Amino acid sequence: MDFRSIEVQRWMLAAILAVVVAAKFSEAQLTTDFYDSSCPQAASIVKQKVDAIVDADRGLAAALMRLHFHDCFVRGCDGSVLLNSTDPNILTEKSALLNNNSLRGFEQIDEIKMELECACPGVVSCADILALVARDATVKVGGWSWPVFLGRIDGAGSFADEVNGSLPERTDNFTKLVQTFAKVGLDAKDMIILSGGHSIGQVHCGAFFERLYNFQGQNITDPSMDPEFAEMLKVQCPQTQPFGFMALDATNGTFDSTYYLDLLTNKGLLESDVALLSDPLGVEYAIKAVQDPDTFLFEFGMAMIKMGSIPSVDPYGWRSHCAFTEPKY
Ligand code: HEM
Repeated sequence: MDFRSIEVQRWMLAAILAVVVAAKFSEAQLTTDFYDSSCPQAASIVKQKVDAIVDADRGLAAALMRLHFHDCFVRGCDGSVLLNSTDPNILTEKSALLNNNSLRGFEQIDEIKMELECACPGVVSCADILALVARDATVKVGGWSWPVFLGRIDGAGSFADEVNGSLPERTDNFTKLVQTFAKVGLDAKDMIILSGGHSIGQVHCGAFFERLYNFQGQNITDPSMDPEFAEMLKVQCPQTQPFGFMALDATNGTFDSTYYLDLLTNKGLLESDVALLSDPLGVEYAIKAVQDPDTFLFEFGMAMIKMGSIPSVDPYGWRSHCAFTEPKY
């Protein structure tokens, strides 16, 4: 069997799996052809814009992909992560501790939304834009494509205090990670695969300072960390510079399975990354991802479809600007 027929088979399997996954997890009845008549050019507009954005700044691919994750875990995939606060007494998700000064790409989403509004006013939801952008950004830096199911309805609510407890945290152990993903209907394997999102992007040095400088409050480096790697980190991230940045994996500009190789060679950065190997399921998957990167690239897409189907807790309507709600039409 030649390579192309293997590819075809893989894609047929992808399509079947995608339908099964979507049917099972999408209470919102998302479909791949949702905009086929109302805005047939929607997907190509998004792709063109994402390609241009990532061409100009490759690092933004990670930021754009992450927005969909942070959106879906809080109130479901409803674009709530994009909302600005209009009441000084109510902070929105983007101002929450876990998001503030960390999430990026909001201006780029606004740009894409503007272009879509010019082409098809009042049609494409912000939540759907995030889903398309996540796929296109991943593909642009080496990931495999996946069919994006569309038809999400934007929410109107966004509350900073809902972020804590909804999103996983960098210090979470395996059990806690599994519990947080379970809250939105994702299982341990989804969690392990989606953590592979850390194949691209950057992290603030401060996010792993405890491991580097004060492991378990003992002023030592986490002994489980590769010593040479730890020395390199100390040069890149001196204790005085918690706001410096480090790449999340050794090939952070390319979406691949190197993240899992890093974990297996004791070069994981976050406690939550390292925690994956504390469970046999995580070890087994990391080895599989390294031995067969294509399987990871394929399964990541399937897991993103599943994540993208987390239903909105309070669907509201459509927004002309992703950062603001407007009166219900
Ligand atoms: C498993 C639990 C997870 C935890 C605890 C976690 C935590 C974090 C942390 C602490 C950062 C660095 C933030 C900063 O320093 O500003 C980060 C970055 C990132 N995360 Fe996660 N994350 C998790 C899962 C995921 C998932 C599921 C995805 C995507 C599917 C993802 C995609 C990313 C990306 C792409 C970045 C880099 C963003 C950038 O360069 O702007 N993460 N994550």
